[in-house]
Amino acid sequence: MENLKLSLFFLTSLWFLFFFCHGIESPQFTVIHSESDLEIRLYKESWWISAPVQGISFEKATKEGFHRLYQYIHGNNTNSSKLAMTAPILTSITPQAKQPLEYTVSFYLSSKFHGSPPRPLPDLSVKLGRWESLCMVVRKFSGFAGDDNITEEVANLMTSLAQSNLTAILEDKNAYTIAQYNSSSHLVGRLNEVWMRIAGSSTEGC
Ligand SMILES: *[C@@H]1O[C@H](CO)[C@@H](O)[C@H](O)[C@H]1NC(C)=O
Ligand SMILES: *[C@@H]1O[C@H](CO)[C@@H](O)[C@H](O)[C@H]1NC(C)=O
Ligand SMILES: *[C@@H]1O[C@H](CO)[C@@H](O)[C@H](O)[C@H]1NC(C)=O
Ligand SMILES: *[C@@H]1O[C@H](CO)[C@@H](O)[C@H](O)[C@H]1NC(C)=O
Ligand SMILES: *[C@@H]1O[C@H](CO)[C@@H](O)[C@H](O)[C@H]1NC(C)=O
Repeated sequence: MENLKLSLFFLTSLWFLFFFCHGIESPQFTVIHSESDLEIRLYKESWWISAPVQGISFEKATKEGFHRLYQYIHGNNTNSSKLAMTAPILTSITPQAKQPLEYTVSFYLSSKFHGSPPRPLPDLSVKLGRWESLCMVVRKFSGFAGDDNITEEVANLMTSLAQSNLTAILEDKNAYTIAQYNSSSHLVGRLNEVWMRIAGSSTEGC
């Protein structure tokens, strides 16, 4: 039991270590508008593998979801393909009155797999998805993203939007995504972002 726990611990910690050798792929975007502490980005169409997780804690949900994605990435798919690491890891949350919350943890599929990604084995309860080109408003933050500070980071983005008279562009004022780019072994120079969808995104612009 202890061994199992230990290996699970290592497995879930490993993703952080694999990350961010240089030259890993990320979803492509164009910056449409930029201010001192926020950015509006137009993302190209992108492919993701996502794990839904129910829970109370952002940190626990992210770990559990990534654990399932990690298995898919490391060959638990109908093709036994191993996938290259990418960044960022997304944790999307739509706060609701009822607990537990629904989280979705997502991993970006490198462009090689766009169109025909390997299918996950059904036991993993993860699913493939194609995102249309879409617009996001983004605010960066540093340090470790965790339960004690993500709500504050989201509030900071809301404040910046309000100051720029941009709150009305949001598709859903309650739904947000935390994007984490760095391995947990990096103690300094960490990059995270709060993402919020902009209503009526199109390929034309934002
Ligand atoms: C894939 O999933 C099956 C069933 O959950 C498990 O027995 C197997 O060890 C997994 N293989 C890998 C490579 O993770
Ligand atoms: C699956 O494997 C086959 C044979 O190895 C390969 O031709 C095909 O491109 C792979 N498909 C995916 C989606 O990786
Ligand atoms: C954010 O909170 C987590 C715990 O929820 C903590 O581990 C982390 O250090 C905090 N990050 C910052 C930048 O304060
Ligand atoms: C904010 O937006 C509203 C409606 O879009 C507009 O009427 C108002 O003039 C704007 N205020 C500023 C300070 O830009
Ligand atoms: C964290 O990730 C960002 C984005 O990929 C990168 O620019 C930065 O150098 C990374 N930080 C460290 C300490 O590797």
